[in-house]
Amino acid sequence: MTAPTQEMKQTQKKKKIALSGIKPTGTPHVGNYLGMIKPALELVKDYQTLYFIADYHGLTTIRDKREMKQHTYEVAATFLALGLNPDEVIFYRQSDIPEVFELTWVLSCFTGKGWLNRAHAYKGAVDANTAAGHDTDDGINAGLFNYPVLMAADIILFNADVVPVGQDQRQHLEMTRDIANAFNYVYGDTLVPPEALIREEVAIITGLDGRKMSKSYGNTIELFAASKQLRKQVMRIVTDSRTPEEPKNPDENNIFNIYKHFATPAMIAENRKKYTEGGVGYGDLKQELFELLDETFTEPRERYNELMANRKEIDAILNQGAEKAHRIARKTLSKVRRRIGID
Ligand code: TRP
Repeated sequence: MTAPTQEMKQTQKKKKIALSGIKPTGTPHVGNYLGMIKPALELVKDYQTLYFIADYHGLTTIRDKREMKQHTYEVAATFLALGLNPDEVIFYRQSDIPEVFELTWVLSCFTGKGWLNRAHAYKGAVDANTAAGHDTDDGINAGLFNYPVLMAADIILFNADVVPVGQDQRQHLEMTRDIANAFNYVYGDTLVPPEALIREEVAIITGLDGRKMSKSYGNTIELFAASKQLRKQVMRIVTDSRTPEEPKNPDENNIFNIYKHFATPAMIAENRKKYTEGGVGYGDLKQELFELLDETFTEPRERYNELMANRKEIDAILNQGAEKAHRIARKTLSKVRRRIGID
């Protein structure tokens, strides 16, 4: 290989920045993979990418130190096992970058409190309290309330142009833009207002029961479950009682909804036909889906298990990422401090 020319370096520099965070709140599942991990990894060739584990966002709900550690390693190992190359992607733990928290404070001074009142997660918690006849803010910590500001700091600190996220994060990205603009309005062009990158076709991945696949619904298929468990989970997909001969609507079927993300177009077309015309049973498609998932994830599963058994390797990778991230973070933060007159 020859050394990069000046011109190549310049084109590299011009790449837009994509950044995203994932909370360490549960063992990664197929919904996380399709909705976030896979699209994020596909951006690596066209963007300068930064991906991080949002552990301090996790602290708004996690109350168990073993869980925090375990899930943090699981998320890291998942990305690495699925092909994240730490020489290409800046991959780090949010908590390793103290500048994030300093910027959070600065940005909170440019965030309307009313905006936070209207943030979905907080508003949902308030509505639940109201419905239950409890005090409005019962059991709600200020971390949950300030969550969107921390997220804005995650993004703004690294000058991200685009943020690949799921549909549920759209409002957070709008707030991030509003916050960046509010700062820029006072101090002139300083912060980059980011764009959400939401892939509509994978916006909602349904789980075993047809609701959004989510740990809180207990309807997930774990990414790296051993074959036997994987098969069990797939067999639990909820279906109606139609016989193999009866025609079925593939678009309203919990098996098909997951299957279509993994099968080739030809396989999808074939099963779509069989479904519509009748002649295939749910058990057959479940078996096919299981085999497909098992095959897709066999290699990453091995790498995942290797990494989980060797956490020092994960630590070393994340530390290396933190160092790189830190360099960018320091620059943005000193610029912000200069602008506001605290330097
Ligand atoms: N809020 C995101 C989620 O729940 C996680 C997250 C935290 C994030 N900081 C971020 C995502 C910055 C994108 C960019 O999934």
